[in-house]
Amino acid sequence: MRPYDIISKKRDGRPLNPEEIDFFVSGFTRGEIPHYQMAALLMAIFLRGMDEEETFSLTLSMLHSGKILDLSEIQGKKVDKHSTGGVGDKVSLVLAPAVAAAGVTVPMISGRGLGHTGGTLDKLESIPGFNTQLTIEEFKKNLSRIGVSIIGQTPELVPADKKVYALRDVTATVDSIPLVVSSIMSKKFAADLDALVLDVKLGRGAVFDQEEMAFRLARAIISIGYRVGKRVVALVTNMEQPLGRLVGNALEVREAIEALNGEGPGDLMEITLALGAQMLVLGQKAKGVEEARNKLRGVIENGEALSKFKEMLEAQGGDPRVIDDPQLLPQGKLRIEVKAEANGYITSLDAKKVGEAVVALGGERRDLSSEIDRAVGIELIRKRGEKVKRGESLAFVYASGEKEGRKAQMLVQDAYQCSEQPPKASPLILYLVTEDGVKSVSPQKAPPP
Ligand code: URA
Repeated sequence: MRPYDIISKKRDGRPLNPEEIDFFVSGFTRGEIPHYQMAALLMAIFLRGMDEEETFSLTLSMLHSGKILDLSEIQGKKVDKHSTGGVGDKVSLVLAPAVAAAGVTVPMISGRGLGHTGGTLDKLESIPGFNTQLTIEEFKKNLSRIGVSIIGQTPELVPADKKVYALRDVTATVDSIPLVVSSIMSKKFAADLDALVLDVKLGRGAVFDQEEMAFRLARAIISIGYRVGKRVVALVTNMEQPLGRLVGNALEVREAIEALNGEGPGDLMEITLALGAQMLVLGQKAKGVEEARNKLRGVIENGEALSKFKEMLEAQGGDPRVIDDPQLLPQGKLRIEVKAEANGYITSLDAKKVGEAVVALGGERRDLSSEIDRAVGIELIRKRGEKVKRGESLAFVYASGEKEGRKAQMLVQDAYQCSEQPPKASPLILYLVTEDGVKSVSPQKAPPP
């Protein structure tokens, strides 16, 4: 077998067999197939797609590039949540400790930023000392002791996804259903989960901005889960504007801590409770979503969720003092104001442009070797539906350099649309997708196809 022949077969639109996929993935993981050939194959997959069998084989090859956890000695169900990626999406940082505090073990293997979307690992690593590269033994120890741990792909766990993910991020091959499905599901199978709740983001700031693609992605993940006996439930959620008020790695940790203190913004809390409730039901810690939501509200109000977060930080080497003193997180040197140019209502706030502003600030990667600046980001003072007067603050850009700061300022200015008429309400949670099909969750949304 030659990598060249496999690339040309996919380039010509022919399906790859499991041996060819495995040869490529294992060769690339071992460093025997170079980056440029994997980049070519990824682009061929992006353009030509993969059928269900190929996607399943790709998932298994990525999974078997490393070890698979055995969490059978930990009592109870293990349930995780994974997002397809958004802007300002710090849900995992709030939800994982809250769900663990409510009694369900959360073994979370997350990713870094992809394209204009942020990544949980990059956010957590803005906490001084926080280690996302634990050994399998350390990860298991934390799960049995605390009930939650968040790590990344490591040389031991899904190393193929670690390498492929980084390459997709810089080769414009993120928004491909087979690549997203295999990336997510290889990590989830490696973590020995019983069930998964998927947050499929839909809209300008998401990986996919068409309903049809969001449904296809959700169905593909549910069906792969089904094949190996793992229940998957998906919520399709709105990603037209960023989630919360803070975007950028360290800023998002700050907002997550505020949320764990019971002071989170409404949209972040609504999505966190909706996804977390599904996790508690799948984890058999609540009979229905209402009971589950109440439990989650309870552990946030009584401080148990925040204590779990603190325990997780300490167990992973992070400085827990950031909880009481967010000034210890990295902070941008410059604060640049973005002002309203007219009176009226904010009718849209383009999440993609805000994500691109963070990329322009250096808060996301541009190539494989680039270091990211975790201090930079955007504070959104006004969001969709809010009233504003000309000259008032719309947002603040936190930058490390003047040139990048000015570029981000222009992008953020451009992200806002204003009108004299208020916009129609836009629901946050759109659809529930299960093995039985798609259901509208919001009364404002037409029934799905
Ligand atoms: N999350 C992942 O882990 N992989 C993707 O491709 C997209 C979101």
